Amino acid sequence: MKKVVVVTGASSGIGLALCERLLSEDEELHLCLACRNLAKAEAARVTLLSSHPTAEITLVQIDVSNLRSVFQASRELKQRFERLDYLYLNAGIMPNPQLNLKALFYGLFSRNIFHMFSTAEGLLTQDDKVTVDGLQEVFETNVFGHFILIRELEPLLCHPDIPSQVIWTSSSNAKKSNFTLEDFQHVKGHEPYSSSKYATDLLSLALNRNFNQQGLYSSVVCPGVVMTNLTYGILPPFIWKLLIPFIFLLRFFINSFTSTPYNGTEALLWLFRQKPEFLNPLTKYHSLTTGLGHNYVSPQKPVPQTHYENVTGNHIQA
Ligand SMILES: NC(=O)c1ccc[n+]([C@@H]2O[C@H](COP(=O)([O-])OP(=O)(O)OC[C@H]3O[C@@H](n4cnc5c(N)ncnc54)[C@H](OP(=O)(O)O)[C@@H]3O)[C@@H](O)[C@H]2O)c1
Repeated sequence: MKKVVVVTGASSGIGLALCERLLSEDEELHLCLACRNLAKAEAARVTLLSSHPTAEITLVQIDVSNLRSVFQASRELKQRFERLDYLYLNAGIMPNPQLNLKALFYGLFSRNIFHMFSTAEGLLTQDDKVTVDGLQEVFETNVFGHFILIRELEPLLCHPDIPSQVIWTSSSNAKKSNFTLEDFQHVKGHEPYSSSKYATDLLSLALNRNFNQQGLYSSVVCPGVVMTNLTYGILPPFIWKLLIPFIFLLRFFINSFTSTPYNGTEALLWLFRQKPEFLNPLTKYHSLTTGLGHNYVSPQKPVPQTHYENVTGNHIQA
């Protein structure tokens, strides 16, 4: 039977590169591109078909920052499919990112220099806004819209005899210090992106806790630092181009500079090949690239177990 894979945010960057690699891995897939802009989605479909002419690729319109759109897309998916094998929750935003030049300068001369470059911790602030649903846009896009999508698609995802995988594109920028339960939408802070990605990591643990027995398994991935429209919001493309020699040098010390969308999808593709029952629910899978350009996947703990237990009251076995 054909595997059914849905990818949100498949129109560009990491999502599009993932679709390309998934089709190279298994051309028999039914791949559904879940995008907010149908014209961009159609362009992505044409690009994918040019290298995989026989592939079955369909589109569904979804704006994950709008609950009406999420419900509509869920209805369409339930009409089209009896089950889903993979749901890649990849759409995400980092609106109006501002680089904290002071923090960058101090970081350059501190012991944390490698950590700062690999996680961007403390370097980036963003301007958030409120959506038509009255939620913070970053939270709704990166976390809540996707969470509602999962809940709506439960009948397609929960089959104890055939496991399904929900795979989130999270980030190393997810930081416990930027997340509180009292302000889980990050209304009061200036790092909503980091908060939303930490919320994603917590949510993934909770999904495993509550849904593994029903055949749904959730994982989180960090793609590394990848040149996409998202990073072009931090620095313009020509600056990134000027930084390329520096980035290639840095890669000998920090393997998280994956740089290309292709490299960034390494962990997303690796998870596609795994039996989810054997994955550790406490792990975040990092795409990494060595100084010589070799891609590999490294499992790391995203959320201190004690913090998960404090926040949710749930106890999870490692
Ligand atoms: N690039 C990095 O270094 C990096 C690092 C860590 C994590 N990530 C994560 O990787 C994921 C993919 O980002 P990217 O780097 O590939 O950036 P990107 O090229 O900007 O791709 C983001 C995708 O999300 C879609 N999207 C945004 N808002 C949406 C909404 N409300 N509803 C539906 N789709 C929406 C975009 O659609 P449109 O084409 O319509 O805008 C686009 O397809 C994100 O979750 C991001 O947080 C990226």
